[in-house]
Amino acid sequence: MIGRLNHIAIAVRDLGAASALYRDTLGAKVSDPLPQPEHGVTVVFIELPNTKVELLEPLGANSPIARFLEKNPDGGMHHVCYEVDDILVARDRLKAQGARVLGDGEPRIGAHGKPVLFLHPKDFCGTLVEIEQV
Ligand code: CO
Repeated sequence: MIGRLNHIAIAVRDLGAASALYRDTLGAKVSDPLPQPEHGVTVVFIELPNTKVELLEPLGANSPIARFLEKNPDGGMHHVCYEVDDILVARDRLKAQGARVLGDGEPRIGAHGKPVLFLHPKDFCGTLVEIEQV
């Protein structure tokens, strides 16, 4: 059911330092920071030949990654995003298998303007999973 790995998201405290690390130390192509107030994050996109990495810095008081960074003060991998062809078909199949879909279970428009859902990390090997319809 799942297709390509769309991106890996890494939560960071200091987007400038993390961008410099990926650009200068790892030699990656790093975008300018893009504030996404509706998602409570500022994002830097890193294009790799086969996938993307997204660096997420909290934005605003109710950022969904603020608590993650309290528990992981050095930053850390926040979620992986897999592509699906049809997000409603994928959701219904996952729910039928007993997986918990976060929020109200309805897809929301994600950071790339495409519908996304998040799946409970306890159901997926301790990893928050995002599915995105492409
Ligand atoms: Co994501």
